[in-house]
Amino acid sequence: MTSYLVKGGNKLSGRVNISGSKNAALGVLAAAMAVDGPSVIENIPQVIDISLLLDIFRDLGAEVEMVGEDAVRIDPRTVTSSEALLESVRKLRGSYYLLGAFLGRFGKVRMYLPGGCDLGSRPIDLHIKGFESLGATFTMEENGVVSLEAKELKGASIFLDQVSVGATINIMLAAVHAKGMTVIDNAAREPHIVDVANFLNSAGANIRGAGTDVIRIEGSPHLAADMTYAIIPDQIETGTYMMMAPLTGGDITVENVIPTHLEPLSAKLREMGVTVEEGGDTIRCYMEPGAKLKATSFKTLPYPGFPTDLQPQAVVLLCGAEGTGRMIESIYENRFQYIDNLRRMGANIICSGKLAVVQGGNPLMGAPVEARDLRAGAAMVMAGLIAKGETKVQNVYPIQRGYENFVRKMRSLGADISVEGPEAVRPAW
Ligand code: UD1
Repeated sequence: MTSYLVKGGNKLSGRVNISGSKNAALGVLAAAMAVDGPSVIENIPQVIDISLLLDIFRDLGAEVEMVGEDAVRIDPRTVTSSEALLESVRKLRGSYYLLGAFLGRFGKVRMYLPGGCDLGSRPIDLHIKGFESLGATFTMEENGVVSLEAKELKGASIFLDQVSVGATINIMLAAVHAKGMTVIDNAAREPHIVDVANFLNSAGANIRGAGTDVIRIEGSPHLAADMTYAIIPDQIETGTYMMMAPLTGGDITVENVIPTHLEPLSAKLREMGVTVEEGGDTIRCYMEPGAKLKATSFKTLPYPGFPTDLQPQAVVLLCGAEGTGRMIESIYENRFQYIDNLRRMGANIICSGKLAVVQGGNPLMGAPVEARDLRAGAAMVMAGLIAKGETKVQNVYPIQRGYENFVRKMRSLGADISVEGPEAVRPAW
């Protein structure tokens, strides 16, 4: 088990290069399996979730080859089976995109239910409802195997009862091969939905409205691919580093980012008294001399609302702010599990259902804590940055799943962080 040891008290300052978006990469890589030719995908983050997915592709018979520092070439033409009965499918939430990709391409798919971070119940009923609307028959087999089959997929009007990133992408992946027009209503609008749609359109699909809540997809029997495509920068990695500047009283510039994707966070940081300067592809965050970090209220919402994936980091920021802050988690039922760890460090937080009330300014003390999930793990490291003494963040595997070169980037900004136990090797693509 690997732990990170963080000694608090350092101000984090400098420039940090943001990697490609993990969540966009999971969707675009699955889209590369849904098309009928090879493609080169650039700006892929070297994180465990991505190497797990690429291993699944290889096991399924696809040709997967590294063609540069952060680029991979995928040729799905050698895939012969639409069955993904591999243990690694269970370890990764993003593997669920194979349902849409294979249902569209082969007209059938069998695979294990996906895994992922434990944030409470994470059903896929909306995905299934969408596939059924397209004409697929769904069977839940024994041992958690999901099976979908369709003689022919036909375009349909699909209303999502709840805004879901995964269901929107999955339905899009299947619908690009359906006969006729599919309309997804109440679609999610996250930047990575636009990224997946852009990839598919570059391969010859006809998807309009991605980034709005109504997406129209005119299906085509054949999608040529044979192209190079670059993944967007990681919105959540960007937001995590942005918050470290006001938290520690430092001055951080995130580079290679799309500032509009961070608007929900930038607006909140400004409310808290942080100076946020947006450039073409950079954002600089710092506190003016004499400015104080003030508490505010947050509510997580689908994009363009405040992202749930920045919720634990924002709660830590509230711990370092003056006054009483509030966080309402409206996406997941169980995303405050990490708060016990913060309390152990001295944080004054009261939780009731979907609400956490944070009394800022209580000094934090280093303590052994755990990376309960990917984003909560990053938040624990952030808490360590302002804690007195040493914080041991144990079992950091979830952090390694989603943050590229986390320790190296943190050190380059001036954090005192070291690794106990085997550091994740660079994922072998
Ligand atoms: C994606 C992101 C995840 C992020 C989440 C919300 C990926 C790989 N993961 O997850 O990091 O936290 O969006 O921004 O991109 N729901 C249902 N039925 C469904 C599907 C979802 O009830 O069939 C519910 C979920 O339980 C949750 C909400 O809808 O409460 C939103 O989930 P969704 O947007 O689907 O999240 P994911 O795609 O799993």
